[in-house]
Amino acid sequence: MNVLPDLESMSRAAAELVVNHSTKAIEARGRFSLVLAGGGTPRRTYEHLASGQFRSRVNWGKTHIFWGDERCVPPDDQRSNERMAREAMLDHVSVPPDQIVPIRCAGSAQQAADVYETKLKTYFGNRAADFDMILLGLGTDGHTSSLFPGSNALEEKKRWVAVAHSGKEDFERVSLTPVIINRAKLIVFLVAGREKQKILREVTAKETVDHQLPGRLIRPANGQLVWLADKEAAGIA
Ligand code: 6PG
Repeated sequence: MNVLPDLESMSRAAAELVVNHSTKAIEARGRFSLVLAGGGTPRRTYEHLASGQFRSRVNWGKTHIFWGDERCVPPDDQRSNERMAREAMLDHVSVPPDQIVPIRCAGSAQQAADVYETKLKTYFGNRAADFDMILLGLGTDGHTSSLFPGSNALEEKKRWVAVAHSGKEDFERVSLTPVIINRAKLIVFLVAGREKQKILREVTAKETVDHQLPGRLIRPANGQLVWLADKEAAGIA
């Protein structure tokens, strides 16, 4: 676990990882795929990437943006993960619009999941289906992406994208499944705040698979897993 003093320095460390990893990916394969997390924690990372010292260090023209999950609300809704990422980052950097691939729930959530799976398959084509970098958050109940405790998507063996429910919201969600997440080259968890202390300890304490703790199912098969936490989440502040 990499513990940074606060959300601000954790966000800068995450932005630095994006810069380094995108440079390596583009050198090696000519493009960089970045999967964004939703929720609130990554906002500061996105803002850093879109400004000052970071913005000019990413080759945005060769960057392809995806989402790890989306809430089935209109894309301009305050709760939309797409909206948050556009406001904090994408509206301020020069990623070609056709390289930004949001999850859109125009029809049913199942249709949205099917369409997104097809879009991912088209993106990877004949190449290995492994994202270069995936950012993830961790909910206080142990969920990550929209993979909630006990969800069927946790058992998924084949599908890359599934419908998800938090059980507490009046909208559905769409989420990447561990099948595709765990093929990534680099997965970075961003965890900040005292309210995450208990769950972060539980998720990282053991490696045993526990479907009540979806965060533990994230284990890249051949890639690297990085936990970035602030002192409050890590329990040392
Ligand atoms: C979402 C997310 C979700 C999020 C966690 C943590 O759409 O809600 O992608 O998995 O990352 O709920 O959210 P915070 O970082 O805001 O606590």
